[in-house]
Amino acid sequence: MSDFADGFAGKVALVTGGASGIGLATAKKLRGAGATVVVADVDEARGKSESEAIGAEFARLDVSDSAQWKEVVSGVVQRHGGLDIAFLNAGVTTFPATGEEFMSMFDISEVTDAAYRRIVGVNVDGVVLGTRAVASVIAAQGGGAIVATASAAGVIAFAPDAVYTMTKHAVVGFVRAMGPSLAEQNITINAVLPGAVDTNILAPGFAEQARDMGVAMIDASEIADGVINAIRQGTTSQLWLCLANQAPFAYEFAPVEGLGITSGPEA
Ligand SMILES: NC(=O)c1ccc[n+]([C@@H]2O[C@H](COP(=O)([O-])OP(=O)(O)OC[C@H]3O[C@@H](n4cnc5c(N)ncnc54)[C@H](O)[C@@H]3O)[C@@H](O)[C@H]2O)c1
Repeated sequence: MSDFADGFAGKVALVTGGASGIGLATAKKLRGAGATVVVADVDEARGKSESEAIGAEFARLDVSDSAQWKEVVSGVVQRHGGLDIAFLNAGVTTFPATGEEFMSMFDISEVTDAAYRRIVGVNVDGVVLGTRAVASVIAAQGGGAIVATASAAGVIAFAPDAVYTMTKHAVVGFVRAMGPSLAEQNITINAVLPGAVDTNILAPGFAEQARDMGVAMIDASEIADGVINAIRQGTTSQLWLCLANQAPFAYEFAPVEGLGITSGPEA
């Protein structure tokens, strides 16, 4: 497996959703560790200013659009000679964060076609199309690492957003199943599964209310540490739960006996 034991100097990393929150915190750490970082986001204004502030490059990318993926990845290769790391992190919730209601019941009748396509496009297509776009390019470097941001909602039933829960379960299944084939190209693929992180994805006031209710909020920089850890481990198809006040740990599903095939990432 590709070796990042010596750090990230000379490595090229692409971070989707890098204009804010977990993506930005990770872009900052990778940059600080010597990598050339390309922040990719739909939010051009924030993406440009934040990238400039941390010494990263900005590329406008809607992760749900395969044509844009091709363009952005080929631009990275042209400018930097290749790609070693992809952090597929961009994500949204089903409903925009308004702060009107705290953890209200999920009403499926309120989910418009557009809202449904949007969240599946960003959270699921963004990871699948992203992996497809970067895999051969990372392989051409002799290998590297892909990390996707799932969520604790990728392994628990988060009732306030059932569609979000579905998309994050999809990311978990994809990461687990892609490991063996990408390993043939010396590429690791892992997921980080954060608990509640204080970022712009949350409704205004959510973090305070959550803290008042005893929910342990995590700083985005701690998830960034989890991403770096996932890259440096050199293992693949692992689900790194990143919860408050503890080091990231690899979540494991119970084995399914009686199928006749191995059900885990070691399949
Ligand atoms: N904050 C949390 O509590 C939490 C918990 C678990 C998982 N996550 C996941 O972490 C990831 C990052 O979220 P965050 O909390 O940092 O939120 P954030 O809102 O701060 O950042 C998300 C970024 O993704 C970008 N984005 C949205 N749609 C995009 C698209 N189509 N193409 C490219 N970029 C797009 C946004 O512009 C934004 O910059 C998401 O996948 C989210 O689901 C967040």
